[in-house]
Amino acid sequence: MIYRHTLLALGGFALVALVIGGIAGAAWGWGMLCAGLVALLLWHARHLSRLHFWLAHPIPGKVPEGDGVWDEALAGLHRFERTVARREEALADALVRMRRAVQALPDGVVILDGANHIEWCNLTAEGHLQLDGRADLGQNIANLVREPEFVEYLESPQQNAVRIARGEGRLLLLQLIPFGQDQKLLLSRDVTQAERVETMRRDFVANVSHELRTPLTVLVGFLETVRELKLDPQRQRDYLAMMQEQAARMQRIIDDLLTLSALDAAPPASPDTRVPMRALVERLKRDAEALSGGRHTIMLKQESEADVLGVEGELASAFGNMVSNAIRYTPAGGTVTLAWQECADGARFSVEDTGIGIEAEHIPRLTERFYRVDRSRSRETGGTGLGLAIAKHALARHEAKLEIESQPGKGSRFSARFPARRLAGDFTRLGA
Ligand SMILES: Nc1ncnc2c1ncn2[C@@H]1O[C@H](COP(=O)(O)OP(=O)(O)O)[C@@H](O)[C@H]1O
Ligand SMILES: [Mg+2]
Repeated sequence: MIYRHTLLALGGFALVALVIGGIAGAAWGWGMLCAGLVALLLWHARHLSRLHFWLAHPIPGKVPEGDGVWDEALAGLHRFERTVARREEALADALVRMRRAVQALPDGVVILDGANHIEWCNLTAEGHLQLDGRADLGQNIANLVREPEFVEYLESPQQNAVRIARGEGRLLLLQLIPFGQDQKLLLSRDVTQAERVETMRRDFVANVSHELRTPLTVLVGFLETVRELKLDPQRQRDYLAMMQEQAARMQRIIDDLLTLSALDAAPPASPDTRVPMRALVERLKRDAEALSGGRHTIMLKQESEADVLGVEGELASAFGNMVSNAIRYTPAGGTVTLAWQECADGARFSVEDTGIGIEAEHIPRLTERFYRVDRSRSRETGGTGLGLAIAKHALARHEAKLEIESQPGKGSRFSARFPARRLAGDFTRLGA
């Protein structure tokens, strides 16, 4: 193609030169041919120099254009350049997508070179390890994450992973994974919550075992005594009564544990059923009187007509525990006041007593499972230490909050505060 074009051009010049040579003489003919050749040469040189200039500073999409044979040759170059550009764009896109995917990982990812210098890290890793994704690039990670366990692990990764404490009480699991040539991937995972749950589970199992073992030990002791000693019928009856007491205590603990686990497993209390509060509170007052056996003054402030939307059994067990605590922790002669009242953003059920009260340091822990201020007092009065844990749980399922105010020696007030969206019925003052 190119040869044909060139030959055609040369042929054209030769023809013109022949014609001019025939008319004006040979010298003119040769001169004409020379001039044509020089013009052709210059034309090629001009295109060549444009191409050379572009190759020295190749601006994408700006391949020079040309005429004749150059047009085709440069168009080919242009097509090639476009294909390359498109491939590059696709590659860049893929890279961006990969980075986005790594950014979206819940785990931290740091890419390290053979000498443990940071090549790249995602945002999660920046947060976990307190790195600066730009300023710290190229730095040795051991200079930035200086926890000795980690530095040791980095030098000789014998275990699968290490745990380090970093930042405010945060626990991280770090794992090195070799890849490519001498490169490493450092993964970081926040295991603070998982660790907390695991500790809670361990403590809970230990607590349950301990709580059940105490009555069981007493029970076994009595059993041995009754079996081995010849006791008179009255003594024997006494022992059996004490054994029954221990068995009943174990039963109460197990009942409460089952209640807790049922609350854990159940779906949130549906807001479709209306729990008649007036009747419930009156029933609670009668229970309180029965429990007190006339040793306390029981008062009732029935000030709201609102009803709670939820599960009656759960509310009754939460309120019932608040009431029984007030009676059990108030010495004879004291007063216990039950109240159902409206408040700024809803309504509250409260139980106020003039009992022994609670030191401030214990208040935040009262709803923990098995937490008791005075173990023996709780036990003597038939407590399991699970009542307030159940109450808090049951109330939370009704979007209600348990509030505790208390003054040692003066008395306490436990309130369950329900938001307006959990109430039904006539509660005009709400939202006013
Ligand atoms: N009204 C109250 N007055 C004083 N202390 C209370 C009162 N209610 C609860 N407490 C304290 O909170 C602890 C936890 O209560 P709870 O979970 O119901 O367990 P318990 O089975 O002991 O009643 C009790 O052991 C007691 O120390
Ligand atoms: Mg209780």
